[in-house]
Amino acid sequence: MPQLAYVNGRIQPLAQASLHVEDRGTQFGDAIYEVCAVLNGRILDWQPHLVRLRRNLGELGITLGVADGPLTLQARRLIERNGHTECIIYMQISRGTAKRDHAFPSDAPANLVMTVRRFDFAQRIKQLATGIAVITQPDNRWGRVDIKTTGLLANVLAKQAAKEAGAFEAWLVSGETVREGSSTNAWIVKDGRIITHPTGTAILPGIARDSLIRLAQGAQLMVEERPFTLAEAMHADEAFLSSTTAPILPVVRIDGQAVGSGTPGPVTARLAELTWNEVARQTGWRA
Ligand code: PDD
Repeated sequence: MPQLAYVNGRIQPLAQASLHVEDRGTQFGDAIYEVCAVLNGRILDWQPHLVRLRRNLGELGITLGVADGPLTLQARRLIERNGHTECIIYMQISRGTAKRDHAFPSDAPANLVMTVRRFDFAQRIKQLATGIAVITQPDNRWGRVDIKTTGLLANVLAKQAAKEAGAFEAWLVSGETVREGSSTNAWIVKDGRIITHPTGTAILPGIARDSLIRLAQGAQLMVEERPFTLAEAMHADEAFLSSTTAPILPVVRIDGQAVGSGTPGPVTARLAELTWNEVARQTGWRA
């Protein structure tokens, strides 16, 4: 079956799907996006993703002429037509196509693109046993990284540095503070307390992050939303990361140094159990 993509109301073969060269997403990164996990053919946390997408459009003053209902139907249709039950769906909305000019065009409709890619979630469950390594990189991003824009150059460079160092992720550090990863949120555990950077303008408010906080609190675990330093992370009992495509992975090394025992810890394991149970509750998927 050829892969299919959605572009402005049409589902077509991915190889033929395209946007105009003067799409503002290409020229200015003037676009927002969402990535959602699909398991057992069902989109995980769809409602929170939709709320974040609308907020991001609002922050940038982009008008999408597609309401939530039709958007949901089109996303589901694209997933079904691609025939994948375990995949990720990528949705991108740019301010539209217009002659290149920094100021907004007055009458360009937004461009909506969706693609679907098969994803092996079972592999993530295997990684819970080994954990992953992260390196640190300076946080070189702009001041509104709470808005999920396609302007990801600093994230791309940080992720490439991680890859070249044989690590899974780069944690972005500003001054002494660990903010988040290049495409994941960052967490540590110390004396039973689960610590992650607070939302605001310095991190992306991750959907997996939010879900984890709710699950942890529901299980009477202590969560502290506060900045933590790299030194704290280096001396933490445990560390982990979260994202749509993780959704939780133990971090066992930071810049080559073992975190705690250097193996995945019990608090992370408990959170992973809660997370995958929630995935099963929402979607019916089990590894
Ligand atoms: N990344 N922080 C950054 C900078 C991110 O790009 C992401 C998501 C997250 C985690 O957010 P969520 O839990 O909503 O996935 C945190 C996506 C997956 C991506 O860019 O592919």
